Amino acid sequence: MKKFTVQADIYCASHIDELPEADAALLQRAKEAAEHAYAPYSQFQVGAAVRLANGVVVIGNNQENAAYPVTLCGERVAVFAAAAQYPDVPVEAVAITIKSPTGTIDRPVPPCGACRQALYEYEVRHKHPIRLILQGDKGVIYSTETVQALLPLVFDASFL
Ligand code: THU
Repeated sequence: MKKFTVQADIYCASHIDELPEADAALLQRAKEAAEHAYAPYSQFQVGAAVRLANGVVVIGNNQENAAYPVTLCGERVAVFAAAAQYPDVPVEAVAITIKSPTGTIDRPVPPCGACRQALYEYEVRHKHPIRLILQGDKGVIYSTETVQALLPLVFDASFL
């Protein structure tokens, strides 16, 4: 059997000042969005900010529900809201961060698998790469040039 290896380019900044100004501002918007998450069950507040090619920023945060599976992640709230309001405008970048109960998570929090798939759809829809910017409560910041970087062997419409 042959083996092949899939690689992902991930950039790591040790401080927000190392990011391009627009990305630093976007991460700041995501931080603010996390403050307003509705997460009474997990207490794990996620904030996301989507920057569109027209410069508009749309924010989202996780919305939990007493029927737990009804919950929607912050990234999807943000990207769906952006797509609903600006259906023809490509997504340029998405910043994702958290406000955890302890405030001590110093690793970037990556989007869950479902959110990666949801975000990837817009990369395909607009044929435009989406930069991801990820941070925990604090600490290093990861960024990728595409969503696909986090989704090797992705399922897409080409299979349908
Ligand atoms: N959550 C997100 O908002 N985004 C993710 O990518 C992973 C998890 C939320 C869902 C739930 O409200 C809480 O974090 C704990 O899982």
